[in-house]
Amino acid sequence: MSDGLQVDDVVHTFGDRVALDGVTCQVPSGRLTGLLGPNGAGKTTLMRILLGVLTADGGEVWLDGRRLEDVHDRHAWGYMPQERGLYPAMTAGAQLVHFGRLHGLSRQQATLRARDLLGELELADRWDERTDRLSGGMQQRLQLATALVHGPHVVVLDEPFAGLDPVAVEQLSSMLRRRVEDGCLVVFSSHQLDLVQDLCEDIVMVDHGRTVLSGSVSGLRAASGQRRLRLSLASSERGWLESFPGVQVVSDLADDLRLTVPPEVDALQLLDAARSCGPVLDFGLELPTLSELFLAAASGERRHEAVR
Ligand SMILES: Nc1ncnc2c1ncn2[C@@H]1O[C@H](COP(=O)(O)OP(=O)(O)OP(=O)(O)O)[C@@H](O)[C@H]1O
Ligand SMILES: [Mg+2]
Repeated sequence: MSDGLQVDDVVHTFGDRVALDGVTCQVPSGRLTGLLGPNGAGKTTLMRILLGVLTADGGEVWLDGRRLEDVHDRHAWGYMPQERGLYPAMTAGAQLVHFGRLHGLSRQQATLRARDLLGELELADRWDERTDRLSGGMQQRLQLATALVHGPHVVVLDEPFAGLDPVAVEQLSSMLRRRVEDGCLVVFSSHQLDLVQDLCEDIVMVDHGRTVLSGSVSGLRAASGQRRLRLSLASSERGWLESFPGVQVVSDLADDLRLTVPPEVDALQLLDAARSCGPVLDFGLELPTLSELFLAAASGERRHEAVR
């Protein structure tokens, strides 16, 4: 089994409500993984089970080939829960030192790490500020720092980007990338699909407590069978399209033609056919965005696909 987390057929119910209905997925180390899914899909429940905060009714979670038993197996992990939990009257610095100490760091180590992290998050000048006097986004960054202060190798973050301004999004993205490049396993949930598309190597998408898509972002986009060819044509002649019955016209405005390209059709043959009828001024093959894959998967059009 490869390095990383393996989730096998995890089931969890709250009373009559099935929150997780057999989730299976992999979260590799050294790659950034985004956990996606509509509201109520089961992301937070899954993360709490990964952490051992909740016990699954069925299924197993493995790390680096070793089955995880209880919360003690995860004591060194970093976790940012969706419901934030900071002490409002404590200063930012004291708060971080406190969380570092809870994870077994000495006061000196915790203070050093806390100073580094507040610097990295551009909150160094807020060391002595009471937490409840920080802005919402600053509290969010401080919360993130509490998850990272002990230098964890496994980091699970529930909606860390929610409510952050674009500069803070950029900072947090770089922070997570640095952790991943150092070999950490980082998984975070988000509804910001453009961000996940740009930032993550891998995704896991859940809906109604089941995995509907998982694997590499590039592989899933390429394998989706929803490619489009964009052509800018000098001629309005479209007779050549008749040789490609599976191809559909998405739009045909002025000289700009957009076509769907089913998996069995070679896009270059389409291009050649268009060129045989007149000059092609511009062209491009477009893969579906993560948003489009998400909408297709969430509307139940797709079964679980795992692509690497
Ligand atoms: N403590 C609980 N008691 C009862 N039902 C719960 C509890 N926590 C979650 N659920 C239910 O489990 C399902 C999954 O919820 P969960 O919080 O995991 O979704 P989510 O994907 O994190 O959604 P969101 O994007 O809104 O954060 C929902 O139907 C929710 O109502
Ligand atoms: Mg949630």
